[in-house]
Amino acid sequence: MPFLSDENQSSLRLDLLSWPEVEEYLENCKGVILPIGSTEQHGPTGAIGTDALTAQSVALEVSKRSRVVVAPTQPYGMAEHHLAFPGTMSLKPSTLLNLMHDLLVSLAMHGFERIFIINGHGGNIATIKSAFAQAYRSVSKMNLPLANTFRCKLANWFMVPEVYAEAKSLYGEKEGQHATPSEIALTLYLEPTLLKKQFALPKPAPAGPIYDYQDFRRRYPDGRMGSDPYLAKPNDGKIFLDKAASALTQDLTDFIQEQ
Ligand code: NI
Repeated sequence: MPFLSDENQSSLRLDLLSWPEVEEYLENCKGVILPIGSTEQHGPTGAIGTDALTAQSVALEVSKRSRVVVAPTQPYGMAEHHLAFPGTMSLKPSTLLNLMHDLLVSLAMHGFERIFIINGHGGNIATIKSAFAQAYRSVSKMNLPLANTFRCKLANWFMVPEVYAEAKSLYGEKEGQHATPSEIALTLYLEPTLLKKQFALPKPAPAGPIYDYQDFRRRYPDGRMGSDPYLAKPNDGKIFLDKAASALTQDLTDFIQEQ
């Protein structure tokens, strides 16, 4: 068991393994982590890649702690409502559904029975759940040996109760709904160069409904929804990463052992 007995606790990245190593891994563990983010505006001071950077960092940390292999991050998500802001690159729900379905079925074909999606973007949730339903149907129809034990689980790192409670205690109502100080704090911890983009912002538009992208920009002219990302500090990000990784490592372990 070269992986599980590795004393050097770094994350276990699928993209750095060879296929015989993946085959050997599967003899010991049927779990895999798949991070997904989004490439979309995060207010006037937030990085376009916020949701992918954050999901990836949590996934790598969970892999490090659990020794479960982590697949490359899917950086694009369903961000239709952010398309009035430059830099946003969105997949239509139907595209994301097909993409996620194909990735899930690919993993199932090799014997990965437990697929743990670590997600960084609220807009992906509905489509990821739809992809699970579609993948279950495909795996059953394909009569794969794992058809009865194949399961997928969605973990939204920003909705982990310990993370949410910490964000509320640090930022209160100023956590808001989009370009939140919690996610921005994690990016500042991961990429210190982003610190120089930060400056005090006027009061944001309050959070409200989401319709099409033009309406979104009218309602939320600077891209934020009720948040004050200027409150974000790199050390807060370190705390969020630790809280998210602790809780999700436990969830993943339970999920893999689930009968
Ligand atoms: Ni985000």
